[in-house]
Parts: sequence; C-alpha cells; structure tokens
Amino acid sequence: MSTAKDEDSSDLSILIQSIATSCKYIQNCVRKMGLAKLGGEANTGQNVQGETQMKLDVVANDVFVGMLDTCKRCTVLVSEEIEDPVYCKPSNAGRYVCVFDPLDGSSNVDCGVSVGSIFGIYRATEKGVARAEDALQPGKCMVAAGYCMYGSYCNFVLTIGGHVHGFTLDPSLGEFILTHPKITVPKRGSIYSVNEGNTQFWDEGMKTYVERCKNQAEPRGARYIGSMVADIHRTLLYGGTFSYPSDRKHPDGKLRLLYECFPMAMIVEKAGGKASDGCGRILDIKPTSIHQRQGIHLGSVEDVDEIEECMKNAR
Ligand code: AHG
Ligand code: MN
Ligand code: MN
Ligand code: MN
Repeated sequence: MSTAKDEDSSDLSILIQSIATSCKYIQNCVRKMGLAKLGGEANTGQNVQGETQMKLDVVANDVFVGMLDTCKRCTVLVSEEIEDPVYCKPSNAGRYVCVFDPLDGSSNVDCGVSVGSIFGIYRATEKGVARAEDALQPGKCMVAAGYCMYGSYCNFVLTIGGHVHGFTLDPSLGEFILTHPKITVPKRGSIYSVNEGNTQFWDEGMKTYVERCKNQAEPRGARYIGSMVADIHRTLLYGGTFSYPSDRKHPDGKLRLLYECFPMAMIVEKAGGKASDGCGRILDIKPTSIHQRQGIHLGSVEDVDEIEECMKNAR
C-alpha cells in the first residue's frame, strides 16, 4: 500500500524526469542551432526583463511550459520569459511549484559559449490548487533545485535536499549518467568571478575584495564567462567565488531571485558552500514579486566570508 510519502516522492521524480527531458531537448537544439537556423534574435521584441529574446529563449521556454503542464505534477509555473505566473489547468494540477530560467546566458548562445537551464521546485500549499503566493516562498522552502549546463559536456546537476549530484548526458544512450556524485565545494578557492566592467558602479566593499584578490602574494585567477550556469558550475567544482553584486547601475542586482539566485544558492549550500547577499543568507529572503532581482555572492565558504567582511568594513 503506497503511503503519502511514497506518492510525494514518485510525483517529485516524475517532475524531475520531465525537467530532465526538457533539458535533453534544449541541449539538442543548442547543439544543432547553426544547422537548424535556431540562432539569432526571435523578433519577439523585449521580454518582461527588458531583454531582447533569442530564438532559443522562446524554444526553451515553450518546451519547459509544455512538459511541466502536461506532466500533471505542478500547480504554478514561473518562467523568466513569461510576465505572469502560469496556472496549470485544474485537470493537470499536481502538488509542486516550478520556477525556471529556461535558457540562461542566452546572449552567449550565438558564439557557442556554454549556456544552461536553471530550476527550483517548491511544494504547493494545497495539492491541485494553483495559488500565486506559492511562488513567493523563501528559497529555503524549496524541496529541490538544479541546473543543466549545455557546455563541452552536458551536465544535469541536482539536489533534492541532500547531496548535490552531477549527471552527464551520454548522447549515444540519450540518458543522464551519474558522473559527479556528492559534489563538494572546496572550502577556499583561487578564482574570483565578477564582471569587472561594472567596477565604477560597485560599492567600496566589492572594490576592496577584488583589489585583495589581485594584490595578494599569489594573485587569484579572474574568470568570467557571462553565463551564470557555467560560472557556477566552475565555482562548484573548483571553488572560489561568483558575484553579481547590486551596484549603482543595478540597485537590486541583475540576477533574478526566484529562478537564478535561489536554485544556485540551494545547490551551492547543499554542496557545502555559501550564498550571500553580502551580509545575509540568500535562501532566507522572502520574495515579494516573481521577477525581482537580487545581488548575490556564492562559492567557497571562506571566500564568501571574506566578501562579507569587506562589505561590513566598508559600511
Ligand atoms: P539570462 O540569459 O537568463 O537572461 O541570464 C543572463 C545572466 C547570467 O547568465 C549571467 O551571469 C549574467 O546575465 C551576465 O550579465 P552581464 O552580461 O551583465 O555580466
Ligand atoms: Mn534573459
Ligand atoms: Mn539567466
Ligand atoms: Mn534566461
């Protein structure tokens, strides 16, 4: 006789399988982009973020929405590419809320730089009932989070509340194979990652931290890909920090709290790292709107501690 807990875990695995299938489809589109004329802008004007949509932004969004609605495990969907929450049809409504960035780093896609998809999963407050406020839970309420990086290898990285595991797509099988069990962020790293083109807009704390990285006896390496998924994947495996701070140009930061910051913060924390807004824990934040932006620093615990110390001393 199946218990409620069994039903819950089977629903969650069906939902995660639907996300993984969406990622397989998207990575296939990314690989074939130039051949299938899927590159370039979508001519759909600007999305709710004020960004020019790429064709693959639209394709990735449609795949996620279609798969997540028809898997009948969700009540509400939030996509970077859609202004309002999507309420699954009552006949399709399940017990989870899924927030996602269907294609992260899309401005890089035409030049072949790694891109990815990011997702977070919450439990709905009532099975089968779609409520907007269910998408505004603090990040610490997520039951699962992950991303898929479409890079030199395709890696699906996932936590369902315990360890973080990475699965590499074997194209000959069309299956994700466990290749990175129990990913652990090194306590300290030798890389810092931030868009230094924004230096003039940063507050003193961020400037101090980056100067320290450059001027220490053994200078840290500067790496910045410009796709959050790729920068986080490197930080997860190699350690160090990734930052997109709030600054005078981006008073609330640039990255979106619900479907970029929260899932990456959960992944990094579950891998033994730290995710901070510069003084507090990202996952404790209670969102007020689905597309709100957030300044973020995440990576090796000791390195993020150092960023927080620089921020505190500058205040
Ligand atoms: P998206 O492509 O989903 O809109 O996200 C782009 C984000 C993120 O991937 C990356 O870290 C950041 O934009 C880069 O921003 P800058 O180009 O301003 O550095
Ligand atoms: Mn975008
Ligand atoms: Mn993104
Ligand atoms: Mn995106």
